[in-house]
Amino acid sequence: MKVEALKQAFSKVYHEKPTGCYFSPGRINLIGEHTDYNGGHVFPCAISLGIYGAASPRTDQKFCFYSANFEKQGIIEADLKELSFVAEDSWANYAKGMLLFLLKSGAKITHGLNIYINGNIPDGAGLSSSAALEMLIGVIVQDQFKLTIEQLELVKMGVKTENDFIGVNSGIMDQFAVAMSKQNYAILLDTEEIKYEYVPLDLKDNVIVIMNTNKKRTLADSKYNERRSECEKGLKILQEKLAINSLGELNSLTFDEYSYLFTDEKLLKRCRHAVWENERTLNAKTALGKGDLNEFGHLMNASHVSLENDYEVTGKELDTLVHTAWQQPGVLGARMTGAGFGGCAIALVAKKHVEDFQEKVAATYEQVIGYQPSFYLAATADGTKIIE
Ligand code: GLA
Repeated sequence: MKVEALKQAFSKVYHEKPTGCYFSPGRINLIGEHTDYNGGHVFPCAISLGIYGAASPRTDQKFCFYSANFEKQGIIEADLKELSFVAEDSWANYAKGMLLFLLKSGAKITHGLNIYINGNIPDGAGLSSSAALEMLIGVIVQDQFKLTIEQLELVKMGVKTENDFIGVNSGIMDQFAVAMSKQNYAILLDTEEIKYEYVPLDLKDNVIVIMNTNKKRTLADSKYNERRSECEKGLKILQEKLAINSLGELNSLTFDEYSYLFTDEKLLKRCRHAVWENERTLNAKTALGKGDLNEFGHLMNASHVSLENDYEVTGKELDTLVHTAWQQPGVLGARMTGAGFGGCAIALVAKKHVEDFQEKVAATYEQVIGYQPSFYLAATADGTKIIE
C-alpha cells in the first residue's frame, strides 16, 4: 500500500489528516517450531506482507480503531480507563491489551488517538497477524507520544497481551520477529537468554514459497496451550534426574539417554520434538551460514516429520501441502510454519520451478482437500517501523 493511499483512506474515516504512518510485518519461521516456550532456539524472519497503520491525536481519552479488513465493524472505541477484554471488540482486543500494558509500564499516554489499519496479511493463517497488530500499536503509541521504550519492551508487552489479555500461552517468537527483523536477514533467537543474531538469508537461486492451507485455526488456541503444558509435565519428569531449567538445555543424546524416565508415550514424543527441533535449528543456522541449502532443506523436512508424528500439530491440510511439495522438482525442503493446526507451510524452491510447483501442489491439494490453497512469494522485511 502506498503512503498516499493510506493517508487518504485514513481521512475518509476520520475527516482529518494522519500525523503518522506505520508498517508492521508478518513473519514466517524458517525452523525451530514450538521451541520458544521450551527455552530453545527459533529462526524466523519478517515478511513483506503485513499491516499498515495511520494515526492522529484526539483531545479526549478515547482510542478509536478502524480496520479496512473488518469494515462492517466500523469504528471500535476504547476508553483509556476501561481497557478490558470485550468479545465484541474482536481484533481491537489486541490493541487494547497493548495499551493496557503500555500504561502499566508507566507510559504517559495523555490523550486518545484515531487509528486506521489496513493489512494484506491473511488473518488466522499463522503468519502472526496478531503480533503484527500488537507491535504496530506499540510503535504508534511510542511515536505519537514521543516515548522512549526499548523495542524489546514492546515485544514483551505483546507477549503479555497474548498470555494475560487474550489467553493464549504463546512464546516470544512472533512479537520478536515482527518487531526486531531486518530485511534480507533471519534472526536466530535463543529464547532462554534472549540473545539473538542476524543471519544473512542468502537463498541463491531459490525462493521461499508460502503455502496457505486456507484452513482457519479454530481449535488452535486450546490445542496450543495443551502442547505447552505437556512439555511442562515432561520437563518435570526429566528434572527428577537432570538439573535443567528447560528442554532447550538438553541435547538429543542426553534426551534419548534419559527418555527411559517417561512412562507416558505422548509426553515422550512432545519433549523429543522440542529437544531435537532445537538441535535442528542450530544445525540449520550453520548450514545457512555455509551456504549449504541442501542440508537446510533436509532439516526443514525432518522438522515437519517431527511436528507431524511427535508433536502432532500438522493435520491433513498441512501434511498434504508439504508431502506434495516434497515430490516436486526443484524443492530443497518444505515444512509447516507457525503453530500448526492449519495455517501455512513454507517450501524452499528453485526459482525456475516455482510456477510449475504452485500448479502441481494446488492441483493435488484441491483433489485431496476439496478447495484451493493460496501461495505468496513474500520477500523478507524490516521490523515494525514508521513510514512517514
Ligand atoms: C505460535 C506462537 C509462537 C510459537 C509458534 C510455534 O506462532 O505464537 O510463540 O510458539 O506458534 O513455534
